[in-house]
Amino acid sequence: MTAQESSTEAGRRMIAQLRLAHAPLRTDLVQLGLAIVMLEEATLAAEPVREIIAGLTVGQFAWQIKTRCEYFCDHLSLHHAIEDEGMLPVMQRQFPELNPVVARLKSEHEQVSMLILEISTAARELRSDDAASVTRLRGYLERLASMLAGHLDYEERSLFPYFERMNRDWHQG
Ligand SMILES: [Fe+2]
Ligand SMILES: [Fe+2]
Repeated sequence: MTAQESSTEAGRRMIAQLRLAHAPLRTDLVQLGLAIVMLEEATLAAEPVREIIAGLTVGQFAWQIKTRCEYFCDHLSLHHAIEDEGMLPVMQRQFPELNPVVARLKSEHEQVSMLILEISTAARELRSDDAASVTRLRGYLERLASMLAGHLDYEERSLFPYFERMNRDWHQG
């Protein structure tokens, strides 16, 4: 019997749900990273670049990145709040041996939330005619990308084996 076959139905459902929640966080951050690099190249170009992508001006592109950043940060904060207040307390109660894992996940959520504050400020201050503001936001997004990639992988690796043993969805307490 494979690990997949031996897992509970609730476990398989929770694994699928968490993967589904993490997928857009992973892809959106990659897209934001690519976009900010494009904006940086356009901003640093010696010649003024009027059109860079799909007819957008550099200014409009910067505005889109700002908006996407805000949306991403709100979405990520909400995801972590749901985990801190719902998922992690249930997992800790049912599996006390997960205490160190939960402590690490919560501490990483705090580190990410501090970085999110920096990103929100940098996104608000982003201006397509201010190369330093673009470079600042790119740096923060790169830090978040590497921090979050490690966090999501660790969370899945640590919790999935426990999900597989559960008969009830953590949403049910
Ligand atoms: Fe998390
Ligand atoms: Fe998560």
